[in-house]
Amino acid sequence: MKWTSEQRYRNLEEASEQEIQELNEKVKNSPWRQKFHIQPTTGLLNDPNGFSYYNGEYHMFYQWFPLGPVHGLKYWYHMSSKNLVHWEDHGIAIKPSHYFDSHGAYSGSALEHKGKLYLLYTGNRRDENWMRNSTQCMVIMDEKKFFSKLDHPVINQIPDGFTEHFRDPKLWKQDNKFYAVIGAQKVNQEGCAVLYSSQDLLAWEFEGEIQTDLDSFGYMWECPDYFVLHDRGILMFSPQGIEPEGYKYRNIFQTGYVIGDKLNVQEKKLNHGEFSELDRGFDFYAPQTMKDTHGRRIMVGWMGLPDIEYPTDPYGWAHCLTLPRELSLSNEKLVQKPIKELELLRRNLTEAKGEIYNEFKMFQGFTGITYELICEFNNVDADELGIEFRKGDQEKTTIKYNDRKGKLILDRTNSGSPVGVSYGTIRECSFNNKNVKFQMFVDVSSVEIFINDGEEIFTSRIFPGEDSIGIRFFALGGKTFFKTMKWDY
Ligand code: FRU
Repeated sequence: MKWTSEQRYRNLEEASEQEIQELNEKVKNSPWRQKFHIQPTTGLLNDPNGFSYYNGEYHMFYQWFPLGPVHGLKYWYHMSSKNLVHWEDHGIAIKPSHYFDSHGAYSGSALEHKGKLYLLYTGNRRDENWMRNSTQCMVIMDEKKFFSKLDHPVINQIPDGFTEHFRDPKLWKQDNKFYAVIGAQKVNQEGCAVLYSSQDLLAWEFEGEIQTDLDSFGYMWECPDYFVLHDRGILMFSPQGIEPEGYKYRNIFQTGYVIGDKLNVQEKKLNHGEFSELDRGFDFYAPQTMKDTHGRRIMVGWMGLPDIEYPTDPYGWAHCLTLPRELSLSNEKLVQKPIKELELLRRNLTEAKGEIYNEFKMFQGFTGITYELICEFNNVDADELGIEFRKGDQEKTTIKYNDRKGKLILDRTNSGSPVGVSYGTIRECSFNNKNVKFQMFVDVSSVEIFINDGEEIFTSRIFPGEDSIGIRFFALGGKTFFKTMKWDY
């Protein structure tokens, strides 16, 4: 079905009861509804927003278009949790209700201040000629989860030298001052990030463009995030318009980071190393981080990408968020580990171990649709080894390590209903180690694979049939020792 602008930019109240009922019915009959990931009740979810800890709970908001699996009039949807695993649903937090956000309450972030949670987001507005205008707007949430929207944007003007692609403010506090980094496009069509500062989160001053070494690096940087980890400054963002290069940049849009000295806010200068992608999989975009009360830097991403059709579209919904990951640094590289709390989901441990020698092996109890699986291959003396999962007669998804070629490979060519095929069905990255550990979280229609405790991560949606539940371990061209554990989720 083709969606017209009129249909996309309707608000929820404009939809008839019958339309909503039919939509709910479609979602109810959908295969591929997730079991332990945040997903929309109906319609489309995209970026995580306002990820924060406030008043004894974690808060997660996300971009939401309620009426179908397309990008239309965006709301902020609100969930909260005590443990980042079990989430309570609070429904809509921010409605696109004012002139300045008439075409969407776009992405943004949250910070606690004076006992309240301040949500800074982008007001997206189109005029009668469909020209875009972006402002940065404020909503304040109190302890009772009551939201009040300021009746005017707190950043009203796009500074000279930038286009209307000016959005996704990410807040932080440093030396008693507030800062926000915003994703922008310069008039010469280059993407960049800009810096604002404020004493009170309400009056903002434009500081300037953050100077990096990344000239001509895409036409727009979406969802920037800046934070300090182990005394290093990290700028994370999702650049659009980067061409594929070997294994790299294979998705429609990318997400990555640069690491350097801490941002010098006076000079707005970031001395940094190379841009690295955060994830090697097919579906990862627009992540956001927060620092929790234990001092952990935790990241959640959107497990999806813009401008690609997904097999759940005909069922009236699309996308989910990733599981939360704890970030750390090792040799100027970000390492991502699934947060410890996920162990709360573990049920029914099944184990196996032994040697695999030029063969495929299956074990009793190693089947399933939703589970966590850890498999360690040690003293690898094989050309290739790995795991096939969500395997049926015709379907399988494969994660493997090829020791000869020195690479990790995720293959979703035969995973089930195809998705984004024009961008390829294989993802790879270089890797060299005689000991390989795969930790994977398999949900009904996704997989997140952490390799060697988060050195590399492959995040992907997959859409297998419900009979595809097999798991096979293999080593080809030699042998390897292995041990594996699986918990049902
Ligand atoms: C990223 C993004 C943001 C924007 C939001 C709109 O996916 O395009 O730049 O604020 O989504 O939903």
